[in-house]
Amino acid sequence: MDAIRIEGRRRLRGTIHVSGAKNAILPALTAALLTDEEVCLANVPGVRDVDTMLKVLEHLGAEWSRRGDRVTVRLGRLLHPEAPYDLVRTMRASVLVLGPLVARHGQARVSMPGGCAIGARPVDLHLDVLRALGAEVRQEHGYIEARAGRLRGASYTFDRITVTGTENAMMAASLAEGRTVLRNCAQEPEVSDLAELLTRMGAQISGAGTDTIRIEGVESLGGAEHRVVPDRIEAGTFVCAAALAGDEVVIQGCRPEHLSALLQRLTGCGINLEVGVDAITIRGGGGFTSADVSTRPYPGFATDLQAQYMVLMTQASGAAVIAETIFENRFMHVQELQRLGADIRCEGHNAFVKGPRSLSGAPVMATDLRASACLILAGLVASGETLVRRVYHLDRGYDRIEEKLRGLGAEMERIKE
Ligand code: EPZ
Repeated sequence: MDAIRIEGRRRLRGTIHVSGAKNAILPALTAALLTDEEVCLANVPGVRDVDTMLKVLEHLGAEWSRRGDRVTVRLGRLLHPEAPYDLVRTMRASVLVLGPLVARHGQARVSMPGGCAIGARPVDLHLDVLRALGAEVRQEHGYIEARAGRLRGASYTFDRITVTGTENAMMAASLAEGRTVLRNCAQEPEVSDLAELLTRMGAQISGAGTDTIRIEGVESLGGAEHRVVPDRIEAGTFVCAAALAGDEVVIQGCRPEHLSALLQRLTGCGINLEVGVDAITIRGGGGFTSADVSTRPYPGFATDLQAQYMVLMTQASGAAVIAETIFENRFMHVQELQRLGADIRCEGHNAFVKGPRSLSGAPVMATDLRASACLILAGLVASGETLVRRVYHLDRGYDRIEEKLRGLGAEMERIKE
């Protein structure tokens, strides 16, 4: 297993480039199942979840090719409509094949994704909206079995906001007969990015990015070219790194408007940041004060930035309450940060962080994707050596993060353990 060794307290300066969004490319890849023509995607990040999704599509019969940051996918003929457990359990986003398979092929057999480190992660709302669109959906032997003739448009309100649930519904409704109105939808930029791709493929969608999405079903969809939106979570992770250890850092190739909740908080804490059209400049080095945060669906504060923000609060003056309202178990990075000397106390969904506390390096264990990113950030400010183990979590969602941070002056290397 790989680990990343970090020698802390190196100041960061220079420009770091943001890759395409993992959480946009994953639904974009499954959208290729909606047509028998080629879908060409650009700005594809070099992350392991993309490799996993391409394996799932290949298993279904799709052909794909990859050149640099471009991936072309084409499903000429469906081999069978099954996404097996051994693939789905490694990446829950595989459930995104469900909507397209039912909508275009009339059937799907997708393994239940099972829980993950951060929570139970049910998919009941994905199944519920497919039933509302006319599919017959059963669960047996750990698999979701869905069948349908042509789906029929419907009005549907999500009980709670779900990003991939909204994405599955949008893809399914694109080929349904008639109009679908989806309410209480997720408004994440990745949902809007998928809607843009589907529209290029011939879908008729309005309202993506708001809580109500209207879709007029069409008979068929064609191929398209699409450049995937920059990764706001990777960008936010680098913003936190720069605020922690940066002299002057430019985060280039991002969409600052997708990070407004984080940037607003950091400005309020006294962090010097300047926002451009596609870049954010952070001038670190000064002290900053703490501020409370509650994670919320977009455009609120992203749960995927909660762990990174917590590291920042260990170095802020004052106490901060961080409430994780989206997932039931997303504080596993706390005990690892405590090993580095952080003063954090958890009570249910709240973490109480006191700062500034100097951190000292130690071996720590990554438990999930964003927790591993937070441990890298902690290693940047801890004195001495920090060894982050199980970085396979990190590689799922970050494209060469140690290379990018080394480019800013961080002293870090990947080692084989
Ligand atoms: C997406 O996951 C992201 N993944 C997650 O990013 C992100 O943390 C999450 O949205 C929230 O923003 C992708 O887009 C591939 P949800 P998703 O459905 O869609 C409950 C990362 O680090 N829920 O919005 O699976 C669920 O348990 C990953 O990149 C149901 O109850 O999340 C959770 O409490 C981690 N029933 C809440 O809704 C359902 O049918 C939000 O989940 C679906 C969800």
